[in-house]
Amino acid sequence: MTTADSLGTRRSVRRLSSLEACRADLYGGPNVLVPPRHLMASSEAHDIAIEMAMAKQHLDEEISSEDGSPRVATPIERPPQTTADDFALAFDIDGVLIRGGEPIPEAAEAMRYINGENPYGVKVPYIFVTNGGGKTEEERCLDLSSQLALEVSPGQFICGHTPMREMAEKFDTVLVVGGVGEKCRIVAEGYGFKDVITPGDIIKTRHDTTPFRSLTKEEYQNSRVRDFSKINIEAIFVFADSRDWAGDQQIILDLLMSKNGRLDTRSETFDEGPPVFFSHNDVVWSTSHEHVRIGMGALRASLEALYKAVTGKDLSTIAFGKPQLGTYQFATRLLRQWRKDTHGINRPPSTVYFVGDTPESDIRGTNEFNDISDSDWYSILVKTGVYQEGTIPRYPPKKVCQNVLDAVQFAVEREFAKSGNESAISDDIDSGFVSESAGVYN
Ligand code: G3P
Ligand code: MG
Repeated sequence: MTTADSLGTRRSVRRLSSLEACRADLYGGPNVLVPPRHLMASSEAHDIAIEMAMAKQHLDEEISSEDGSPRVATPIERPPQTTADDFALAFDIDGVLIRGGEPIPEAAEAMRYINGENPYGVKVPYIFVTNGGGKTEEERCLDLSSQLALEVSPGQFICGHTPMREMAEKFDTVLVVGGVGEKCRIVAEGYGFKDVITPGDIIKTRHDTTPFRSLTKEEYQNSRVRDFSKINIEAIFVFADSRDWAGDQQIILDLLMSKNGRLDTRSETFDEGPPVFFSHNDVVWSTSHEHVRIGMGALRASLEALYKAVTGKDLSTIAFGKPQLGTYQFATRLLRQWRKDTHGINRPPSTVYFVGDTPESDIRGTNEFNDISDSDWYSILVKTGVYQEGTIPRYPPKKVCQNVLDAVQFAVEREFAKSGNESAISDDIDSGFVSESAGVYN
């Protein structure tokens, strides 16, 4: 369905039901996912979702344009309402908005707040920057739209593995590890990788590769027998958390110790294997369990230790996602494009509030990017995820808030205090932590 919006620039954005849309419907965007009860009615999140969908589309066009010249955008004609143009919000997802697949209690109200239900009647633009993955940006969008009953666009999403799409040109045949079933193969193929091999393909071809792992019936059916004596696997991408650490590490190790990614070979020097990329480096993350659970960064540490134990050599691997600065640069480009499209100003917003729960990724990345950015990237740590009250974060935020609702209220109040409006919130940095290196994070 198309929008009923009177603005011509928005008619090309498709509105899809988050209950009925399937993944295939979401390609060839820009699209916005609409929760069922809002499908026929106007939704407060509508404008921001559509504007971000358009900005992402324009950004993609700019990146893929042959001459690389920046797209000249015509500012979108705006209805008479107030959308903040000088500041924006970036949200982490797990531990901030969602925990164990369920929305955090304050999340829906926080989203309503920034979509205009605040004392100033202002709407604030926002994006989602998650290290999570294993699904396409479109599927993540479907999930979040139904979990928060919110209009969301895939264009508002930056996943840990989003930057991996830029490596599809560089490598012809790659091993893709992690996630459920065939999902990560589908993500990688969607990113343009030409020949994607999974651990399942290797085990189906030669079942004694992993002595303690057998494929399920479904895995066996989906996996593809290949002649690996003729295939060079040029790179290894860990797209999502491994569901079988032992089997996946065995296969990665075989490749790392091979000559040029040929599975049936062994290097004598152990420096001829393919590179390994991880979509992020979170050692732990927040789920429904009361204590944090180990994540992809733990697999990375384990693999590096294993490689050292077996070969005696150090293994150097590469991680994307937060806190890597490229993630924040990408977010900046998206926000700049949004501002150019909507307000005709070719600069990112002056201040971006990043709301996260993990000091090592969200807060570290925001603080370090703030040091090199022209915009003010302001880190807010919430207490609903990895960070536990009473501990001292290794990377202290500028502000600590109870939850995402407190965080967005703080950000909006701070902005209005800056512009001279009434406010009870001090502009001072107020994290309560004294030193960047103080104490131990647990
Ligand atoms: O596996 C996902 C997790 O490590 C973090 O996701 O949304 O908190 O960045 P998020
Ligand atoms: Mg998180």
